[in-house]
Amino acid sequence: MQHNKVLILDFGSQYTQLIARRVRELNIYCEIHPFNKIPTDIDSFKAVILSGSPSSVRAENAPHPDLSKIRGQVPLLAVCYGAQYLSHFSGGLVEPSNTREYGRANLTFIKENEPLFNQIEVRSQVWMSHSDTIKNLPTNGTLIASTTDVENAAFTIEGEQTYGIQFHPEVYHTTDGKQLLENFLVHIARVEQDWTPQSFVEETVEALQEKIGNDKVVLGLSGGVDSSVAAILLHKSIGTNLYCIFVNNGLLRKNEYESVLAQYEGMGLNVKGVDASARFLDALAGLSDPEMKRKAIGRVFIEVFDDEAHQIKDVKWLAQGTIYPDVIESVSATGGPSATIKSHHNVGGLPDFMKLQVVEPLKALFKDEVRRVGASMEMDAAILGRHPFPGPGLAIRILGDITAEKVRILQEVDAVFIDNLKSWNLYDKVWQAGAILLPVNSVGVMGDERTYEKCVALRAVESTDGMTADWVNLPYEFLQKTSNEIINKVKGVNRVVYDISSKPPATIEWE
Ligand code: XMP
Repeated sequence: MQHNKVLILDFGSQYTQLIARRVRELNIYCEIHPFNKIPTDIDSFKAVILSGSPSSVRAENAPHPDLSKIRGQVPLLAVCYGAQYLSHFSGGLVEPSNTREYGRANLTFIKENEPLFNQIEVRSQVWMSHSDTIKNLPTNGTLIASTTDVENAAFTIEGEQTYGIQFHPEVYHTTDGKQLLENFLVHIARVEQDWTPQSFVEETVEALQEKIGNDKVVLGLSGGVDSSVAAILLHKSIGTNLYCIFVNNGLLRKNEYESVLAQYEGMGLNVKGVDASARFLDALAGLSDPEMKRKAIGRVFIEVFDDEAHQIKDVKWLAQGTIYPDVIESVSATGGPSATIKSHHNVGGLPDFMKLQVVEPLKALFKDEVRRVGASMEMDAAILGRHPFPGPGLAIRILGDITAEKVRILQEVDAVFIDNLKSWNLYDKVWQAGAILLPVNSVGVMGDERTYEKCVALRAVESTDGMTADWVNLPYEFLQKTSNEIINKVKGVNRVVYDISSKPPATIEWE
């Protein structure tokens, strides 16, 4: 089935992904494309949204795409820079504004019964973030809303389903933003709300069967949500032609390798566990620089995975649990800061190296949608709710060089912390948690003996996507009990601290 779909043209705004999320929350499928790569099959989209941008329309190298195949042909909602560019493109005038407007503003409606503002209260709060302003509306433009500082806050073009709005409907602080998007997409553009996890599963299974036929596929399982959901989708599509490989790099949580492997087997997956701990530890010996550690782990992973994959006769495809934010970053119009922050997170190199065709069934989904898809396939909540865990594992939570003994200590500490979070019903309230082994010894006293042992830090954060995060205010009693238990149970540790730094300026991991 061909979904109703919406095109979001990205001019490089930090909020473009948020527009996509809001549209998807309405159960409408959408795709983000960079402004300079407008799809040729524009008729297959039921509506188009133009994003904001850090640029000024008047700047020489600002994004200036040809909108003639879109404007007046497909329902169009232009947001912030999008609205300014739409005006500039269509006979209006954009100028620097005398009063810059950032943050909160309130709408006054100029035109009665405007469908874009259906069910939206007068004085509704909107969020502004711009320094240019639309001085003259485009040809045939009609003003529909203003704010105190911005006269041309929203307009429509007569005879067309074309709208421009200076504010951002996608951000949380625009109180009726979702209603406005619903008004535009559902009531004006008449896009059907047919994007659901169930329909996604049905269509993806069909599409995978068609694409892969009787070929064999190899997939690397990590124990995380994305690769697990990708595996189940492929398993539904091609059964035992899916060969999963789960590599133990020796840097997983305590007992994680055995328990996750058993869980996968219980799900009926054709999975082979490969214990390569020793190989990873050898490669890490003597390395203390975080990036060198990441590179060594990435390299050994590729070697181990490649060895295993080549034992599968005639394997043709490599499946990956890539999700939408990864895809968007690689096609983003301007790159943007998020691309740099995340670059070190990807193991990378696998597809090119292995010369297999790549299949990525989750490529169109956001993380929360991956979870919803998993739930609709009745996957275990324990897998879907598992905290994110970095690919290099405990290697980036042991500061400095890595030894088997340090891994053992950290696994023990981490297990006490995580088990306690679970038994205190705190695990699901925390986005990510773990322990960090610090490269310092400190003096303590146990019995009548002086000790000189390791210090560990505990970290628990709240976040939505890992890009920003704040430390969690865990109950003192919980910290007290956990700290006691760690020091009593884990030989080699005599001090526990709790990390109270947010991201930014800190990061979630210490390395
Ligand atoms: P930071 O430390 O950058 O982490 O605030 C943000 C999120 O990314 C995870 N992370 C990684 N994941 N390989 C991964 O697969 C890595 O090298 C890596 N470094 C950080 C981190 O656990 C958090 O969820």
